Amino acid sequence: MTILENQSLLKYNTFGIDVSAKYFATIDSVDLLSELLSNKTYKQEDKLILGGGSNVLFTKNQDAIVLLNQIKGIKVETEDAKGWTISAGGGENWHQFVLHCIEKGYAGIENMSLIPGSVGASPIQNIGAYGTEVKDVFEWLEAFHIPTGEIHRFTHSDCNFGYRESVFKNKLKGEYLITKVAYRLTKNPNLNTSYGAINKALEEMKVTTPTLKNISDAVISIRESKLPDPKKIGNSGSFFKNPIIENSILNKVKENYPELTTYPVSDTHSKVAAGWLIDKAGWKGKTVNNYGVHKNQALVLVNYGGATGKEIYDLSSDIIRSVKEKYGIELEREVNVL
Ligand code: FAD
Ligand code: EPU
Repeated sequence: MTILENQSLLKYNTFGIDVSAKYFATIDSVDLLSELLSNKTYKQEDKLILGGGSNVLFTKNQDAIVLLNQIKGIKVETEDAKGWTISAGGGENWHQFVLHCIEKGYAGIENMSLIPGSVGASPIQNIGAYGTEVKDVFEWLEAFHIPTGEIHRFTHSDCNFGYRESVFKNKLKGEYLITKVAYRLTKNPNLNTSYGAINKALEEMKVTTPTLKNISDAVISIRESKLPDPKKIGNSGSFFKNPIIENSILNKVKENYPELTTYPVSDTHSKVAAGWLIDKAGWKGKTVNNYGVHKNQALVLVNYGGATGKEIYDLSSDIIRSVKEKYGIELEREVNVL
């Protein structure tokens, strides 16, 4: 077991923020995790779990032991006439897992191609894109309970999934390390091409009868046209959630901004495109020194290199204030600020 001290986290977060961790350990098995957390020194330290570091903003050095989840392994748990339950180790790369499933013909997660990060983090904020969320295919997960060292199994209803939410972001925050996640994937795909520009991308690709791979390629090409590649420009995807607000309030906002992009979520509430709000408040493409708001997607804050987490956090506070002043709508950060 190798424990590093004062380890730079620069290459472990896609925002490219240079802070350090008091201790740093790579975890590739549950046994190693048990051994580490029964050690007297490390037991007392705060724990911070990291997967791909693609949904965090570090604002300070981490006075904790960082546990980098590298628990691997993909397994067919069950198969029947309709489909499969496939499990994957929490340290598997999400996009590689999606590609593996597509290759094997396991349908259901192709619309979530190219989302960065790990399998273990996928239930944490119930990742989603292009009309599918993890909750639509989630079967169960196993997680290491940090205070007791026990493995607990969570079913769908235990996770309390919502839009970019789960019990692991709220009530159980920091208590569990997710070691394995199982998804229910199908043999009879109900392909979802209706969301966003997928149909247009398929047309451009001259595809009339799409396969899982075609859908994945279409989603990848749309994402690449809008979102910055973290290998080139530091970012954590959408910095804010799309706010969900009551229709009666929304209708008042729409009197002044009739072209505001919204999506109904229930009879009483709608989701508002935060990217639109930020864009039309004049922030899109705005650069301050070496950080700013992305030029193609106003929901994405970017670090061109060398910015601090505090600077990006302060920029996000300015955006929240400005959007509130202009539209009366309060934005909430999606990224985990640490
Ligand atoms: P990390 O950033 O490492 O961790 C995120 C949080 O989860 C932290 O609080 C961490 O402590 C905790 N955590 C991580 N792993 C575990 C574990 N095994 N057990 C317990 N806690 C854990 N998200 C979407 O939903 N949809 C998108 O379309 C999308 N697009 C993105 C595009 C870009 C370019 C980027 C950079 C990010 C995007 N994201 C998107 C956000 C990100 O990809 C997801 O939130 C992803 O699930 C984060 O995975 P990670 O392994 O990098 O998590
Ligand atoms: N828009 C603007 N200006 C902008 C950005 C967006 O006017 O600068 C408008 C677009 O024209 C469109 C609407 O806002 O009408 C929505 O934009 P987009 O389709 O790009 O999606 P989004 O709502 O900004 C959400 C997710 C993404 C996910 C995409 C596709 C959230 C917070 N973000 O973005 O997830 O990939 O939909 O499903 O829900 C993430 O969570 O990190 C993430 C990237």
